[in-house]
Amino acid sequence: MSHKITHIAIFASGAGSNAQKIIAHFAGSHSVKISLIVCNKPGAGILQIAEKEGIPALLIEKDVFFRGSSYIPELQAASIDLIVLAGFLWKIPPALVKAFPRKIVNIHPALLPAYGGKGMYGRFVHQAVVDNKEKESGITIHYVDELYDHGQIIFQARCPVLPYDTAETLAARVLQLEHRHFPLVVDELTRQNTV
Ligand code: GAR
Repeated sequence: MSHKITHIAIFASGAGSNAQKIIAHFAGSHSVKISLIVCNKPGAGILQIAEKEGIPALLIEKDVFFRGSSYIPELQAASIDLIVLAGFLWKIPPALVKAFPRKIVNIHPALLPAYGGKGMYGRFVHQAVVDNKEKESGITIHYVDELYDHGQIIFQARCPVLPYDTAETLAARVLQLEHRHFPLVVDELTRQNTV
């Protein structure tokens, strides 16, 4: 009996450590395949990961993404069922949100709705959390809509912010949380009949 494979595209533009964890999680899976890596930054670490893992990579251009097809034909040609944003910093254009309703998820390194929005990414998030002397931070995995860091929250996990934390030490603690939870949450989404 054959069963349908869930094809995932990971959009990433940074080091790609979350992408790496997700790829490792699904290695050998018969039901889920990481079919495409989408990246907007030539030279990004994620592209080396894609090459090493033998996953096709699509380097995208701003004009096509925001004023052209948004690469919807390429995603459809790869039979993509679920888009996972793992350190992808461009806003997702409305046409792409519409083409993949509730099928795009993002990870954000803070407890949304706090510390989200334009310009709030990576170390800027952690610096703001430290500057405000927050006692707690964490991660948020959410559906993507047309607004930055705004769609329905799927999962959150928390960690303490310690008195001696810098943006760097906090970033490392939060990244560990991301690595632990993101693959499992994506796995859970592929098991629901929603993707
Ligand atoms: C992750 O911490 C992710 O939460 C963050 O970028 C990092 C990517 O790291 N995303 C955002 O800030 C989105 N607003 P990685 O490339 O090592 O996975």
